[in-house]
Amino acid sequence: MSRTLIAGNWKMNGLRESLSQVEAVAAAVGGGEASVTALLCLPATLVALGRAAAADSALRIGGETCHPNAKGAHTGDISAEMLADAGASHVIVGHSERRADHGETDSVVAAQASAALRAGLVPIICVGESLAEREAGQTLARVESQLAGSIPDGVGAGDFAIAYEPIWAIGTGKVANTDQIAEVHGAIRAWLAGRFDASGAETPILYGGSMNPANAAEILAVPNVNGGLIGGASLKADDFLSIYRAAI
Ligand code: PGA
Repeated sequence: MSRTLIAGNWKMNGLRESLSQVEAVAAAVGGGEASVTALLCLPATLVALGRAAAADSALRIGGETCHPNAKGAHTGDISAEMLADAGASHVIVGHSERRADHGETDSVVAAQASAALRAGLVPIICVGESLAEREAGQTLARVESQLAGSIPDGVGAGDFAIAYEPIWAIGTGKVANTDQIAEVHGAIRAWLAGRFDASGAETPILYGGSMNPANAAEILAVPNVNGGLIGGASLKADDFLSIYRAAI
């Protein structure tokens, strides 16, 4: 798989009728080896259907969260094994909306990432500061402490991806500027080199937060940006494909 990853995050959006968007992305991505991996992370109800809609294409399908356990008495939760069984290859863990809505702490996120690896999925581990933390000059300290707490022990640098998503840029139309993105992505890369030595260069670092067809090329050109995690603009095949093409 290519290190460059363009990942959509549909969040709590999408009914079966939305599978036409998956089919359109799959048709455009095609079946061959691609220099960029295209991935759509879908609500759990659509993972198996999305996998079927993307059959014969290089488009990957992922989940949006998973429980640390493989199975058990956890009403409403979904395990990494279930996502893998439905055809997922990746799963987002530690998205700021999950951290806020469900109280997921760094140690929960690390357990979720471990679960993903156990099931053969690639975890996309999300980190990012709030506006108050940025304004207080705490951005790098916050991101580094999330990395330290959310990346599980025993993982290899090439087995997971990081998504840097400043909370104030998610769904707001406010995009971090290229200097801000370069600073944080550079700090994440340096942190990974500290933890994994030279192989820390293998971890894809995605930017997320109001990425769209108009700003994608500029963001993707920033050093240490290896792709994107795209919410709103991933819901329409045409928008998602423009971002994907900007990465090629
Ligand atoms: P957005 O969401 O692109 O709609 O800002 C990004 C995300 O939350 O992953």
